[in-house]
Amino acid sequence: MMQAAASSAPGKIILLGEHAVVFGRPAISLAVGLRLRLTARRSNVFELNGSPLSPRIHSYLSNVLERNWKGGPLSFETTSDLPSGSGLGSSAAVTVAALHTLAQLHGNPPQEEKVAREAFIVESEAQGRASPIDTSTSTHGRGLFIDSRQGDGLLWTIRRDERFWHVHDCTVPRMNFVIGHTGISAPTGPLVAKVKRYYDKSGFAREIIDEIGDITLEGRKLLQNGDQEALGRLMTRDHRLLAILGVSCVQLDKLVAAALPHSYGAKLTGAGGGGSMIALTDRPQKVAQEIRQRGGISYIVEAGVPGVRKEEF
Ligand code: PMV
Repeated sequence: MMQAAASSAPGKIILLGEHAVVFGRPAISLAVGLRLRLTARRSNVFELNGSPLSPRIHSYLSNVLERNWKGGPLSFETTSDLPSGSGLGSSAAVTVAALHTLAQLHGNPPQEEKVAREAFIVESEAQGRASPIDTSTSTHGRGLFIDSRQGDGLLWTIRRDERFWHVHDCTVPRMNFVIGHTGISAPTGPLVAKVKRYYDKSGFAREIIDEIGDITLEGRKLLQNGDQEALGRLMTRDHRLLAILGVSCVQLDKLVAAALPHSYGAKLTGAGGGGSMIALTDRPQKVAQEIRQRGGISYIVEAGVPGVRKEEF
C-alpha cells in the first residue's frame, strides 16, 4: 500500500471565446505555467496544510474525497503559484491534482479522461454551475478547443443536463503571455446571467456573440500557424466585443490599455467584471511592469504547458 503520492496541475487562461461558449460557440483555453502541487500522506486525521479538513471551507477537496476515497485519513499539503479567485482555475487545479494523487494512492495509473470527467462533476457540485473548461484544461494541459460540434482532435465529450461540450486538443506554439490580475474577485454566475439577459432581448448582442464565435474559429487557425501578430489583433477585437457585452470593467480596460503598446494584443480572460486580463507579447518584462504600475498583479507565463502529472514528494 502506497503511503504517499504527489501531483501537480496547471491553471488556465481563456484565449478566445468566453461567454460566447455559453451559447454554443467555440472557445480556446490554454494551460499556463502556474501550477498547484499537492501531496497526500496517510495519517491519523484528515487535514489540509495542518488544519482539520472542513467540507464548508475546503469544498472541492472534501467533495473529491467523499466521491473517490474509501481508505483511512489523509494529510494533504498544497503549494500553489495560482492566486485563488482570479479566474485562472485554481479550484480546478486542486480538484484535478487531488484526483490524480488519489488514483496513485489506490495503485491505479491515473487516466486522463477519467480525471477530467470526475473533476468536472466535483466542480459542478461544489460550485453549482460550471463548464468543463477549467477542469479539462488542467487535466490535459496544452491547449483546448471546446465546441458544440465534434471535429479533429476530439478528446472527450462532457454532458450535463441539456448542455454538452466536445473537448478537442489544440496545437499551441510556444508563446509568452503576461497575466494581469486586477485583484478584484468577480463571481462568474452573475456575469453569465447578465450576458444572457442582453442576448435574449437584443439582436445586436446576438450578433456580437456570433462575431466572437467567428473570431475564435479564425484564432484556432492562427494558433496552428503560429501567427502571433494576427492572433494578438483578434484578442484585442475580442476584448472590445466583450466590453460591449458589458463584462469588462474600468480596471480591466486600464490594464489592457497599458499592455497594448508593447503587445500583439490583449484582452480580459474568463468571466470578466474583475479577475484577470492577458497580453500576448514578446516584451513580457515591459508589459508586466506597465501592469504593476497601474495597480495590477502581473505574472509572466508560458502557455501550452503539460497537464496534471505525477511529482516527487
Ligand atoms: O470564470 P472563468 O475564468 O472560469 O471563465 C468563465 C467562462 C465563461 O464563458 C464566462 C463561463 C463558462 O461557463 O464558460
